[in-house]
Amino acid sequence: KDKRVIDELMGKMTLEEKIGQLNQLDFGMDVTGPAISKDVEQKIKEGKVGSLLNAYTPEVVRKLQDIAVKETRLHIPILFGNDVIHGHQTTFPVPLALSCTWNMPLIERCAQIAAKEASADGLKWTFSPMVDITRDPRWGRVVEGSGEDPYLGSCIAKAMVKGYQGKDLRSDSSIMACVKHFALYGAAEAGRDYNTVDMSRIRMYQYYFPPYKAGVDAGAGSVMTSFNEIDAMPASGNKWLMNDVLRKQWGFKGFIVTDYAAINEMTPHGLGDLKDNVVRAMNAGVDMDMVGEGYLSYLKKLLQGNKITLQQINVACRRILEAKAMLGLLDDPYKYCSEERAAKVNLAPAHRQTARDAAARSCVLLKNDNQLLPLSKGKTIALIGPLADDKKNLSGSWDDYGDWKNAVSVLEGIKNGQGNDVNILYAKGCNLVEDQHTIDVLNESGEGLKKDERSVETMLNEALEQANKADIIVAVLGEAKGMTGEATSRAEIGIPENQKDLLKALVKTGKPVVLVLMNGRPLTLQWENQHVPAILETWFGGLEAGNAIADVLFGKYNPSGKLTQCFPLSLGQIPVYYNYKKTGRPFDDKSLEKYKSRYFDIPNAPLYTFGYGLSYTTFQYSDVRLSTTMPKGNQTLQAAVTITNTGKYAGEETAQLYITDPVASVTRSVKELKGFQKVLLQPGESKEITFDITPEELKFYNEKLAYIWEPGEFIIHIGTNSNEVKSAKVKWMK
Ligand code: IFM
Repeated sequence: KDKRVIDELMGKMTLEEKIGQLNQLDFGMDVTGPAISKDVEQKIKEGKVGSLLNAYTPEVVRKLQDIAVKETRLHIPILFGNDVIHGHQTTFPVPLALSCTWNMPLIERCAQIAAKEASADGLKWTFSPMVDITRDPRWGRVVEGSGEDPYLGSCIAKAMVKGYQGKDLRSDSSIMACVKHFALYGAAEAGRDYNTVDMSRIRMYQYYFPPYKAGVDAGAGSVMTSFNEIDAMPASGNKWLMNDVLRKQWGFKGFIVTDYAAINEMTPHGLGDLKDNVVRAMNAGVDMDMVGEGYLSYLKKLLQGNKITLQQINVACRRILEAKAMLGLLDDPYKYCSEERAAKVNLAPAHRQTARDAAARSCVLLKNDNQLLPLSKGKTIALIGPLADDKKNLSGSWDDYGDWKNAVSVLEGIKNGQGNDVNILYAKGCNLVEDQHTIDVLNESGEGLKKDERSVETMLNEALEQANKADIIVAVLGEAKGMTGEATSRAEIGIPENQKDLLKALVKTGKPVVLVLMNGRPLTLQWENQHVPAILETWFGGLEAGNAIADVLFGKYNPSGKLTQCFPLSLGQIPVYYNYKKTGRPFDDKSLEKYKSRYFDIPNAPLYTFGYGLSYTTFQYSDVRLSTTMPKGNQTLQAAVTITNTGKYAGEETAQLYITDPVASVTRSVKELKGFQKVLLQPGESKEITFDITPEELKFYNEKLAYIWEPGEFIIHIGTNSNEVKSAKVKWMK
């Protein structure tokens, strides 16, 4: 039926109307880039708009959709898209945080809720999931992704696409996913946003491409191009990437949208004028032009000059109409969008409960000397820090649709959960940022950061006064939310210096200190790790963060999060990641040998590695038991361990399976994640968990980019993080 409707429609469309469908404008309710579209309503009337971003709420959407449906010749509805990145009005933990749950049903559920709320607010398309692999925490957008690992990243890409799109895109509360930023955006040199990328094909295929492919395989309806170049050609003009890889090799059938004005940006990339770059984008098979209006301005002329073909415009137009049909918009342009529904679903108690659960499960316990955590009741706690009673920063970047006033601060969360059972003394202690240049840069993009009118000394003294009266200090420190996200690369990735000064003063009191961190990237925490007995990474946890953090601090929830990106020991190690190559001169941090691949002054290992995260309890792993040490062909090998909860609390552990391929026809990583399982154990309880391993898990891209496995020896590792594992060898022949 859809095909018939689209055929009929396309039969009636003029060239201008077809080109209009390829054009996306920015309605401008918020700003995501340097340009905001002009005369949007007039252009809709003229049939020049296929899609809008930054227009939401039932009222706004209805008004604009009315113009498209009632005032244009063919009544084709607009596709409303937006950055619904980690929840809509109910904000969940930022994606990097959510990834630390390693909990796919939960991640899928968060995406489902986001879809339900966003769609009631008139949106049918989200520019999510962002699946860029990230190995450089200086890059501010690590906050939007799922960290460094292609296997975990692929599982998360799939869960998010399923969550947004549901079983049927036509269903009321589904929205279309957009896998972004294709491709390699996370590999920007030196972690500087929008910077150059240069990478071998093997690295692309083995480590960077899998999550994009997983999103496509899960049925994502759209893909967004990245700003960066690949093989000296920006993604939006890269025919090899879009046509050969995405469409031909992976069979992607949806439509491709550029990132914000990315075709226009090919000019400053050094590729000539917009007209030439419109040809490049068309030839690459890019269907929709986000905001740049290059397609709108030049496609007709280019067709007349025989630089592109009508067939190319038809193909792109059809893909966009197909998406609209699949979403049910051609039947009902106002699908699901309603004030009544919006009022009912946005911030629904069940959604907030999921947000609280997700925020607790995202927390990663980095250090807990002498079991300082969980906190016991009946104590006096000094809750100190600029983020201790803050709501504005809790949801991190892309939290535009909710109202920060709905968030719960840590101070409120502790009061909500503990009532009068603890005595809380609060002091802000210092500003979030003291450095004026940083404040100016943040405020330039609308952060609205203000320094406290009190002096640094006054605030510090107040904090010390409270600290000295307390049994224990809980310091809530970290980044301002505007320090992470798009265009927020940092060259120093510690907590801001003024906050570090506060922390040093608190540690100096001699009272036990718990450091609660809120931030959107791995930080350098060498000093903190040496001097602070307990560190809880809570990221930007969304609007229920305060309740969730209180749940974790007081042991109502035993932390189970595991890092998905290494925390470097020092800036000089970056990029640092667990699945590195051995090199010809492998180095072991315990040795003093000189002519090895090492740093003279620091170890090679990160401070906290991929997969790392403590619990209030302890888990012991048995040796790995294999069903056979000589598997053959397509046989399934079973690798089992018994995990025992050896501590006093019930707790959840994420057991991780890694495989090493010691000898191959191309060099391989020291190990690669190939599976994980979550297990809940009561104190003293043991459970056996088994991983089924097939040759699929042994595969890699060889020098011809064929995805194959080679017979020989493999090492199977199972453990609590990428470094602490139990291992066993197998010989796997064809
Ligand atoms: O979706 C985003 C993208 O991630 C960065 N540039 C702007 C787009 C639309 O807001």
